Amino acid sequence: MPRRTQVGIIGCGPAGLFLAHLLARAGIDSLILEARSRAAVEGTIRAGVLEHGVAALMQELGLAGRMLRQADRHAGITLQWRSQRLHLDLAALTGGKAVTVYAQHEVLKDLVAARLAAAPGSILFEAPARAVEGIEGDHPAILFETAEGGAGRLDCDHIVAADGFHGIGRGAIPASIRQEYGKTYPYGWLGVLVEAPRSWPELIYASQGDGFSLLSTRSPTVQRLYLQCDPADPVEAWDDARIWRELGSRLATDGWTLTQGKIFQKSVIPLRSFVCAPLRHGRLFLAGDAAHIVPPTGAKGLNLAVADVLVLSRALSRAIHRGDASGLDAYSDTALARVWQAQRFSAFMTRMLHRDPGETPFDTRLREAQLEQIALSPAAATALAENYVGLPFPAED
Ligand code: FAD
Ligand code: DHB
Repeated sequence: MPRRTQVGIIGCGPAGLFLAHLLARAGIDSLILEARSRAAVEGTIRAGVLEHGVAALMQELGLAGRMLRQADRHAGITLQWRSQRLHLDLAALTGGKAVTVYAQHEVLKDLVAARLAAAPGSILFEAPARAVEGIEGDHPAILFETAEGGAGRLDCDHIVAADGFHGIGRGAIPASIRQEYGKTYPYGWLGVLVEAPRSWPELIYASQGDGFSLLSTRSPTVQRLYLQCDPADPVEAWDDARIWRELGSRLATDGWTLTQGKIFQKSVIPLRSFVCAPLRHGRLFLAGDAAHIVPPTGAKGLNLAVADVLVLSRALSRAIHRGDASGLDAYSDTALARVWQAQRFSAFMTRMLHRDPGETPFDTRLREAQLEQIALSPAAATALAENYVGLPFPAED
């Protein structure tokens, strides 16, 4: 049985789910096809920092109940190098803005539950999209596999590929018009979850000893820590003793000790920067990681996905309700302008805080001088803070 919806969305990550909610608010019907099970989507550990504007959007959409009860607002971050800590007062530097530390999979749980409550059947799990067709005409469709293993077809007016970096959407833009820009870094992140109380009241981004480390949090009893590693390292290369030894030295400062606890989750992720352009071909639109990847040092990946779909939802609404395609025509340029700012900031944070395997003592001193400039110059501190809490979303015209 073919199905029909106004906007067919591939992928139930932050991009797909925020889009479905934004479209519903605008009175537009959508259906999400997701390759994985609901449990897998809701259990995958990823990002944790919501920009000021993303947390505000969750409230605006009526999706912030649990976030407001459970998550912490962080009005500052700490930078550390050479065993010195610098408190960056985000709120003071940005006119009162802050970030919210709330795990991506908790955001997804809230958005999935709210979407299914409002529109039962509007997300099909275990239904991988296999191909899109007709995107250059007026009647596009998504061909997918049903949870029972049969062939499904979703006819729609517009298709949004919000299917992450390894999805099928990007490849449907002909190679002759698709441009891809990218860079892979010679280091990765080992991420761990630990049962322990908080060791410090805010996030610490540190660059010391063998490189980067990050102290983040999930709750008063669960902490999230990352450290720079060889991207080829299997997690088995990192036994608990080695993790604590490295974190201990990379976060060491006088009069403070990192509280240890049971490590119950470990993963290694590669670091890359990637942009695909344009974000549109006919009636197919790319959003989120399907179109671009940032290294996680700036905490921008999830936030950028939300900014894309905010712009796209307005454009779809204008096209569907008013027959005005100007927003759809402008989508790629409008979204990419903000994407390149996030790319610049993420690459800046990454280079400043990681130790390149081929780094010379000169390179190290240059990185430290960059960090010192943030301590010395209110202009440099303000630039970092403005980007970290999130640049404004593109204005609605
Ligand atoms: P995704 O979250 O990738 O969602 C895409 C969805 O599409 C997935 O559920 C996938 O199963 C589904 N899908 C794929 N192909 C198909 C198909 N053919 N049919 C149907 N469904 C399909 N960012 C940070 O800021 N900080 C971090 O610490 C951080 N850690 C990360 C760790 C990992 C391992 C990864 C991969 C990313 C991390 N990120 C981090 C980035 C951040 O999580 C992403 O930017 C964010 O998830 C992007 O959302 P998205 O909706 O665009 O894509
Ligand atoms: C977290 C992830 C990030 O990439 C980051 O920059 C800060 C915090 C986190 O998972 O908590």
